[in-house]
Amino acid sequence: MNWYTEQSALDLGKQEEILKNYKIPRHIGIIMDGNGRWALEHGLTRTEGHKQGIDSVRDIVKACAQLGISYLTLYAFSLENWKRPSSEVGVLMNLLEFYLKKELKELHANNVRLLAIGKISSLPKKVQRLLFEAIEITAKNTGLTLTLALSYSGRWDIVRAVQMISHDIRNGKISPEDITEELFSTYLQTAQLPDPDLIIRTSGEMRLSNFLLWESAYSEIYISNKYWPEFRREDLYHAIKDYSRRERRFGKISAQLKEDEVKNINENILIKK
Ligand code: FPP
Repeated sequence: MNWYTEQSALDLGKQEEILKNYKIPRHIGIIMDGNGRWALEHGLTRTEGHKQGIDSVRDIVKACAQLGISYLTLYAFSLENWKRPSSEVGVLMNLLEFYLKKELKELHANNVRLLAIGKISSLPKKVQRLLFEAIEITAKNTGLTLTLALSYSGRWDIVRAVQMISHDIRNGKISPEDITEELFSTYLQTAQLPDPDLIIRTSGEMRLSNFLLWESAYSEIYISNKYWPEFRREDLYHAIKDYSRRERRFGKISAQLKEDEVKNINENILIKK
């Protein structure tokens, strides 16, 4: 299915309105939460909640690609999630396998580049194989970069980076004085991604739960009260509009931002001349 030619006129209109009037985040990260509670409230099993969650994944990935968003990172399975009952872990791994098998063709056809962050070696071999295959097949795509955070935790990635830096110091590749924020970032698994501009969390919970801890230093956070299985593109549009109204000061004051804006406009005019 071609996501760009088979879009309803109504939705296309909504997206055009957003693109015209709002600032679009370059990188959105989503903490997908509430599958279990959604299922419970609907008298269904947790498995049904996760299955329904995949429909939300499909819709949000598609909407992000259609809007021309460059990066979407989905927190699909945390390192801490391994502590869940083994039956539920099994269901989540099966769903991941199912998603990769079923969606790869469509993702590839729509120019999506797939990436994964996390302790991938701890995933079942079959899932690892499918993941590496999908990453390889879509590697040259230039549309949305969809990163799945799997068996991931922000602290784990930071500790891993510190270990690699220590090795490089011991081997004489770098010295402690070389360590800057920029250099440190290159050791993280997210090195090829820009920091997230917007982090969305569903189900009303207000915490990061170990997601992109280093990278989220200046991210805007949007909490949706909807459970993940009911979070769809309309909710994403709402989050983007809310983000667009925020003033991102990065430690500066409002007046400086206005000055920066004027400076940028003037520089652009000079470049065009
Ligand atoms: C949080 O709900 C959700 C998860 C731990 C898993 C997210 C997984 C999916 C949406 C399906 C597979 C993903 C992909 C990318 C194919 P919860 O179980 O913590 O809900 P609760 O807090 O209400 O119990």
